[in-house]
Amino acid sequence: MASDQTGDVVPPSLSAKVVGSFAYLTVRDRLPTILTKVIDTLHRNRNIFFEEYGEEGIQAEKQAISLLSKLRNELQTDKPILALTDGLEDTDSWNRYLQRQQWPHGNQELVSWFKSPWLYVECYMYRRIREALWLNPPISGYDVFKEGKTQSFFESQQAIVALCTFFEDFNKNLGDIPENQLQEYFNKLLQICLWGNKCDLSISAGMDNSQKTSPIDSLATLQKFILVDDSDVMWSRLISARQQRHSGKRSSVRVDFVLDNAGFELVTDLVLADFLVSSGLAQEVRFHGKSFGWFVSDVTVEDFHWTIRQSMAANHRWTSQRGVQWQQYVKEGMWSYHDHPFWTQPNEFCDMAADAPDLYATLQSADLVVFKGDLNYRKLAGDRDWDHTVAFERALRGFGPAPLCSLRTLKANIQVGLQPGQGSKLSSQDPDWMTCGKYAVIQFHSPNSDQQD
Ligand code: F6P
Ligand code: MG
Repeated sequence: MASDQTGDVVPPSLSAKVVGSFAYLTVRDRLPTILTKVIDTLHRNRNIFFEEYGEEGIQAEKQAISLLSKLRNELQTDKPILALTDGLEDTDSWNRYLQRQQWPHGNQELVSWFKSPWLYVECYMYRRIREALWLNPPISGYDVFKEGKTQSFFESQQAIVALCTFFEDFNKNLGDIPENQLQEYFNKLLQICLWGNKCDLSISAGMDNSQKTSPIDSLATLQKFILVDDSDVMWSRLISARQQRHSGKRSSVRVDFVLDNAGFELVTDLVLADFLVSSGLAQEVRFHGKSFGWFVSDVTVEDFHWTIRQSMAANHRWTSQRGVQWQQYVKEGMWSYHDHPFWTQPNEFCDMAADAPDLYATLQSADLVVFKGDLNYRKLAGDRDWDHTVAFERALRGFGPAPLCSLRTLKANIQVGLQPGQGSKLSSQDPDWMTCGKYAVIQFHSPNSDQQD
């Protein structure tokens, strides 16, 4: 259990309610659709499994489908959540988490699909998909979401080309750009990276959700939908880290990205990271992603390298130039990709220091950590029914390995750090404001105010 800003231990039930009522509708409506698509993907690919593995591949596909159909039935009929049986490195911690859900209430009924916290059951479904595949070699490592991620990347080509052309405008003047203009580029690339988060396939249950128009042209129109904008503080943080490097207080500046979705969003992350390195604001970037297919479109190590390779091979000069540069950064070790089981667990981030101390220590050595997307926001703030005016810092409940920033378009019923009256005004104008993906936030927090100076 984490502490709030005063240092007191705050039981979750007293600090804010877990977002629970939301679970019923979404579990019933969206998750079965995603499972049906997964089953369909496996079925459509049976010939490929046969070509690669013969009859064994077909048997594995059938068994995996049968496990997934059973899972869909459990979900639709509100059966109890079952312990995992696949003996993977995270199996025990998932099962311990399940026990923690059961025993505080002493009531088995509470851990059924519709009556459990939404964040938990949603994560659990993706882990069970992983189990259904893992138990069926030789297709154990197959990413059932790969097709959708690939398609979304190709459908965003126009936007990717526009973004890489925009980057070239900055790149060709590199060296002569005054500070205020550098900040303007930063603000634009940051906002593109923010709105890139609209393109996730989990909210659309796997349906096309790619970026089709030029992301740069839309920025001015979208500005009014950014409900909290801490980009100036973020900029100050980067400038102060650069000054500390110049004065010899640190040898290099490192920015970590906790990635969200593949496709257009990942390209926007890479472009922002490229800007930070090319402009000398950072010398190292670490990307943190998922170790298996997660929330339909989240980035895995294969997606990360595939995206760089595809960009290199693009039939567009500035896009392929970026791809070549990105590959070079990876080769030289300035960019690196990391995964950790903690990112594919249901835990809130305030538990990270206790449950994944190695990961927490890694983040502590970053100068800035950028958390992308809605799911990361839910885990930062614990998916609680907070009053909208509660400070971001308080909702983090002690989580703060380093100065951090959340770039998130709103897709779930949680939002903190708003001005008094801002939430109710939004509710009367736009009742779906928290879930429709039209609004966004750039929210910054530094655990140690010295680090901001
Ligand atoms: O709304 C559906 C949903 O799966 C949310 O539960 C989840 O937070 C979100 O989509 C995923 O969005 P993102 O890719 O931005 O984390
Ligand atoms: Mg996602």
